[in-house]
Amino acid sequence: MSQSKNKEPSSIKGTRDILPPESRKWQKAERFLQRIFESYGYKEIRTPVFESTELFEKGTGETSDVVIKEMYTFADKGGRSLTLRPEYTPSIVRSIIENRLYLKPDLMRFYFIGPMFRYDKPQKGRYRQFHQADIEVFGEKDPEVDAEIVEMAYTLLKKLGVKNIKILINSVGCRKCRPEYHKKLKTEAEKQRARLCEDCRRKIDTNPLRIFDCKKDTCRNAALGFPKITDFLCAECQSHFEKFRSLLDFYGLKYSVDPQLVRGLDYYTKTTFEITSSKLGAQDAVLGGGRYDEMMKDFGGPDICGIGFAMGMERLLSVMPDIDEPEKFLYIVHIGEEAKKVSMKLAQYFRENGVECVLEYKDRKLKKQMSRADKLKAAWSLVVGEEEIEKNKYQLKDMRTGDQKEVTKEEALKRMIG
Ligand code: HAM
Repeated sequence: MSQSKNKEPSSIKGTRDILPPESRKWQKAERFLQRIFESYGYKEIRTPVFESTELFEKGTGETSDVVIKEMYTFADKGGRSLTLRPEYTPSIVRSIIENRLYLKPDLMRFYFIGPMFRYDKPQKGRYRQFHQADIEVFGEKDPEVDAEIVEMAYTLLKKLGVKNIKILINSVGCRKCRPEYHKKLKTEAEKQRARLCEDCRRKIDTNPLRIFDCKKDTCRNAALGFPKITDFLCAECQSHFEKFRSLLDFYGLKYSVDPQLVRGLDYYTKTTFEITSSKLGAQDAVLGGGRYDEMMKDFGGPDICGIGFAMGMERLLSVMPDIDEPEKFLYIVHIGEEAKKVSMKLAQYFRENGVECVLEYKDRKLKKQMSRADKLKAAWSLVVGEEEIEKNKYQLKDMRTGDQKEVTKEEALKRMIG
């Protein structure tokens, strides 16, 4: 569709541009996360932004709000129903099955950082295109992994300077113990039907666990009196949960058990957790995750368990302190046509040797160029004029200290990269 002639284009509701200098902060956070994830043995998997709609219906779950209300689903020109990924977990499970990654001797620990799409009501901390840093571990059923993942999440938030964080945990049981709980929950929810919103009334019949996802005060208050899943765990889930908790103690991590933390997606079994920051406001979860031991099998793959979490990058960035890293680039000042050419060669030399280098081509006076270097917060400036070209020596100025020295290009390089 063509834009009307005089109307400026604008971004779509719920999406935003990440501009400099904010984009620098993103790069720093992304690099930091990659390093941390890799130090725990994770490798990156990149999958397509869109998948078959069925993948999320089956994976994320047909009773989840994400599938019922929030998916960007469309038919392509071949009539296939496709969906922009609302989360990463089903995509990664699909990829493992399709690429037979479970047959390789490698660790099955994966991470990914990228955009997700959910058609939810935009507000602070909630967007329609947002980014997640996601990690997943497969084939490890012991609670040691659950605890290590929470420890990693907590450590990286601390290292990034995020304050006021809280760990919430729960166990949502398994297919053995949950049916009994469902029955009990359904009976109790039925008694409270009049207090519940229309959505939650529907959930009584489809999946009463999803009532806990409702943010409406009346439903939340009604849910306070509902039975707790932790009172219904089978022996195996109970023991897993106890070990998980004792391992969090072992790591010295403080946490609260929240029996209503069922998380909005249908696939969880046993452990669920979230880390919140009170600095975030209403949307206070920086990250959330849990175990999903049945998804791979439900997709027709091998019986391999999984666990992971995803962190909202926008939320992380909003509670992460600003980085006050000084710029590290050289600004080359040139006077005259010949000097411009020589500067281009010099810039090539410095860049090849790892120095960030900025060259502007407009013909400006020396003073103007020096003030540009200053304004752009260059770390150094290098003056190239007729005299300098003749001598093969240039004025290198440290813009922070004001120290100036006549140097060859090799000496300049040495000074800049130490
Ligand atoms: P989730 O709780 O739906 O879990 O999302 C994880 C995180 O993504 C949230 O805690 C939040 O920080 C961020 N997030 C979610 N929706 C939005 C939004 N509309 N705008 C901004 N940020 C948002 C999952 O997605 C699971 N796949 C996590 C997982 C991985 N479980 C096991 N493995």
